[in-house]
Amino acid sequence: VPELALIIPTFKEAKNIVPLLEKLEAALGAQDYEVIFVDDDSPDGTADLIRSIGIHDPKVRVIQRIGRRGLSSACMEGMLATNAPYLAVMDADLQHDERILPEMLRVIQQGEIDVVVASRHVEGGGLGNFAAHRRMISDGGKQLSRIVCKCDVSDPMSGFFMVTRPFFHSAVRQTSSIGFKILLDLLASSPNPVRLREVPYVFRDRLHGESKLDSNVIWDFLALIAEKSVGNYVPVRFVFFSLAGLGGALVHLTILWLLGKQSDVSFAMAQTVATFVAMIVNFLLNNLLTFRDRRLKGIRIVYGLITFIVACSIGALGNISLAEFCYEHGMPRMLAGAVGLVLGSVWNYGVTSLYTWRSGVRK
Ligand code: GDD
Ligand code: MN
Repeated sequence: VPELALIIPTFKEAKNIVPLLEKLEAALGAQDYEVIFVDDDSPDGTADLIRSIGIHDPKVRVIQRIGRRGLSSACMEGMLATNAPYLAVMDADLQHDERILPEMLRVIQQGEIDVVVASRHVEGGGLGNFAAHRRMISDGGKQLSRIVCKCDVSDPMSGFFMVTRPFFHSAVRQTSSIGFKILLDLLASSPNPVRLREVPYVFRDRLHGESKLDSNVIWDFLALIAEKSVGNYVPVRFVFFSLAGLGGALVHLTILWLLGKQSDVSFAMAQTVATFVAMIVNFLLNNLLTFRDRRLKGIRIVYGLITFIVACSIGALGNISLAEFCYEHGMPRMLAGAVGLVLGSVWNYGVTSLYTWRSGVRK
């Protein structure tokens, strides 16, 4: 069994693979290691390229996932696919300095710690030409992550780290696997205090291709914090679904109020317009926030909107019928209304997450 497994998630990184493997061999040639790429069926043929290299180099293989996306889950699945006692995660785009890997391995092999983080924020590390807004996100994340972390870490957003297999297995079942923040997710999911060390490095510029990380990281991040705080009690997605519903309700009332000033618009007309606009806003909010990892784009938005409206209309019927039933059987008015509302929203959430935002659809 190799001593070290490098887990490298890839999406459209074909041009970086050969230079990366050369650099890894230069840095780790003296060590016993393997490289597991986890590729989400990149259209540029990244997986085929890796397989063609693997034919001649048994250290190299690829797990190709079809119809899936996600950096965190890719890394987790890669780590679950090896027997090596030490597992490292790094990017494929040469931004992570592979020359510190031997030092990271040496530190973790001493057996006193669980995690070595390659950090841009300790003495000797740096962000390189990191864009100003990325710097802010990174700093903000550092502060916020103290809330969920069971340890002190200067660079919790790092996508470059090494863990021991027992540590990984102790935490993996509690992780949420959404978004980019895999290290933070593991640290926050550990049942025990994490013994952690940091090794400095300077973030490099990307060689080929482009970053897949966008402003969504902020959202990912908030979702992770929410998951780690309230997620044990209510599904985080349902919380966001309800918030989006609240947003829709505000839009509804605003429109109703605005149209009320128009003397030529009847109440029924105003309520109808408000209902439709609110549904569309509600749908868009859910598409952007609640289900952003399964976000619909292009023409799928239209189909999605239709299934959303159909599902929610059925939900509304169920809501009204149940509320009426409860009311007629003596339940207080407001309570009956609330019971109907809860049934309606749980139904809407369940059905739209199954049909409108089906998981596993290719984006
Ligand atoms: N399998 C898979 N699936 N891989 C992906 C996906 C995906 O959906 N999205 C991105 N990747 C791969 C990329 O191909 C790359 O190897 C690595 O994940 C990181 O993606 P980048 O798009 O290069 O991210 P970045 O450089 O903007 O962000 C880096 O810095 C962040 C901290 O600021 C990453 O290291 C992040 O993990 C880190 O949080
Ligand atoms: Mn990158």
